[in-house]
Amino acid sequence: MKSGSKHLNYLLRQYKDISVLESIGSLLDWDLNVYMPDKAGGYRAAQSSYIAKNIAEKWQDKSFRKSLEFANNEDGLSVTDKYLLRNINHSAIYYHRVPQKLIVELSDTTTKAFMAWKEAREKNNFEVFSPCLKKIVELQKQVAESIGYDENAYDVFLDIYEPGFSTKEATNIFSDLTNKTRQILKKIAKNDDLNNKTNFQKYVYSKRKQKAVAKYILQSIGFDFSKGRMDVSPHPFTTELGDSDTRITNRYQKNDFIESMMIALHEGGHALYEQGVNAKHAMTPFGGGVSLGIHESQSRFYENQIGRSRSFVKFVLPYLRKIYPDSMVSMDEDELARKINKVETGFIRVEADEVTYNLHIALRFELEEKLINGTLGVENLPDAWNEKMEKYLGITPPDHKSGVLQDVHWAYGNFGYFPTYTLGNLYAAQFFHAMKRDIDVLELVEEGRFMPILNWLREKIHQHGSVYWPNDLIKTVTGESLNADYFLKYVEDKYN
Ligand code: CO
Repeated sequence: MKSGSKHLNYLLRQYKDISVLESIGSLLDWDLNVYMPDKAGGYRAAQSSYIAKNIAEKWQDKSFRKSLEFANNEDGLSVTDKYLLRNINHSAIYYHRVPQKLIVELSDTTTKAFMAWKEAREKNNFEVFSPCLKKIVELQKQVAESIGYDENAYDVFLDIYEPGFSTKEATNIFSDLTNKTRQILKKIAKNDDLNNKTNFQKYVYSKRKQKAVAKYILQSIGFDFSKGRMDVSPHPFTTELGDSDTRITNRYQKNDFIESMMIALHEGGHALYEQGVNAKHAMTPFGGGVSLGIHESQSRFYENQIGRSRSFVKFVLPYLRKIYPDSMVSMDEDELARKINKVETGFIRVEADEVTYNLHIALRFELEEKLINGTLGVENLPDAWNEKMEKYLGITPPDHKSGVLQDVHWAYGNFGYFPTYTLGNLYAAQFFHAMKRDIDVLELVEEGRFMPILNWLREKIHQHGSVYWPNDLIKTVTGESLNADYFLKYVEDKYN
């Protein structure tokens, strides 16, 4: 990629090096999660922090900063150049405004906090974790002050993962979403008749067979195995190791074949996004998916709108019957559809269904916004957590392990991350609605013809990589700004 500005061209050359370094870092992380022997952690940490240090140095380099300043003051830049510059500025904020000392202190604190969180969870004792969390909140407040904000310190953290998204917007969306979701839940609870006819969990599903099913699904939806792989890791994820190398992972439960199927669809959705970015954007500020929320919309779309549809069940059932003749012989379409769409109120976010999931996120969003703004102290966090669980889901966790200590995000200092999961759900439903205006999505799914679906996503979303920010993208693709209506309508239609 070449620009009309010599300053921007310099920045783009440096950016190429940064992209290469980042992909090396991702490869080290991928290996850590998939193959690395237990005792190799120390040396791996040294390798990873060497890469991180080099990336930081590139961003903080004097010539880089100077060129960025010149480019920012340049007149007559093309629209593309302005977009490139906007993305470089966005990524540079953290490196340019947060003092090095604070970055190091935060990194040391989160390393300790991760250990403390693990111990606290094991001992079911919040006090073990709370001093570290207190420190992290204090440091993150300083980060927000160094970066700067107009209205709300929490905006700084939302903007990191979802460029341009604000606390005000999030508050509106969540209040609408939680109220209406609770009404829908009441209706579902009343006519819940999901008795398990077939006890499919008394059967054993070999890894080999589950892997075959996952590959069949991935191939069907358009995952390109010549430019990607699927391996095994305890926590499934997708990572981009550079142009033409997209890795996903899965995990296989001995007595449950559904989970690995849903993971294949979810991670497959992330991977299709990365595989679909126009090759000309590789190693530029337009490479890769634009935000966590839009990324999650692609995974949720394949997992939920596609994978939990009756049409998908019709498509996949014959194959499942062939692979698992014993357990599937008596399971009909109706039963499988009900099994993969069970709605159940529980304590644990990662086990939550499509409907209750967003309530788990709303709770975390409200609490972390208060922590950052100092209207909630860490010492009162467990009580606040339990109150909100009672309010939103009507249940109180029996212990902190299944309550405030369940997620690792806060130990990593990742504030502003949780809301992107819900954004993903909402974007997905809104994209689905727009897609249905153009093509018969569910009919195609039933026939196993997934390419027109992928082509639609590629044309409207994937190919653009990070050219358009989420707000622009959703408006261009669907004609409207993000709102919760399409998600709520989708859920209501499904469970009525
Ligand atoms: Co995901």
